[in-house]
Amino acid sequence: SRPALADLLLSRIRDVPDYPKPGIAFKDITPLLADPEAFTALTDELAAFSLAQGATKVVGLEARGFILAAPVAVRAGMGFVPVRKAGKLPGATLAQAYDLEYGSAEMEIHAEDLSPDDRVLIIDDVLATGGTAEAAIQLIRRTGAQLAGLAVLMELTFLPGRERVTAALGEAPYQALLTV
Ligand code: PRP
Repeated sequence: SRPALADLLLSRIRDVPDYPKPGIAFKDITPLLADPEAFTALTDELAAFSLAQGATKVVGLEARGFILAAPVAVRAGMGFVPVRKAGKLPGATLAQAYDLEYGSAEMEIHAEDLSPDDRVLIIDDVLATGGTAEAAIQLIRRTGAQLAGLAVLMELTFLPGRERVTAALGEAPYQALLTV
């Protein structure tokens, strides 16, 4: 059942105090990835969500989003498309800038890997401010493909990321498997 899955996933996420800075408790997903039962259960849940939304492609956000999204794509029988930090993709890209705490960053996608017939599910590990996911949503819209939704493993509820991404998603669904 769903609470059992949430309990399993939560039990495999490690709080690392004072990382990367003093006062910050980092949510480390590497124990979850190292546990085949938890990693498979997570992959199966996200694959079921992808299929339920009628997705045809899974987009993962660099870098930890790649680790979660690629097995989901394979499991669900869909293609995988990476959204990468600027300068990493060799072909023709669309780029989207987004704000960081100090300054800004840019993410890119190979638009030719998506067609207007594609329905895209975006997957990432953590939703914090929502800036990264919002930029990815904007990128997918600009490719002309349809948005099937956004799924994250973990939403950090002390930040207003949810409002930001649900506004950007419009009708497309948002799912967080864990809220912490
Ligand atoms: C982290 C995380 C999300 C993003 C969430 O990635 O994996 O992608 O930040 O933050 P936001 O909601 O405030 O935008 P990070 O930039 O640390 O990249 P990494 O996965 O390559 O370490």
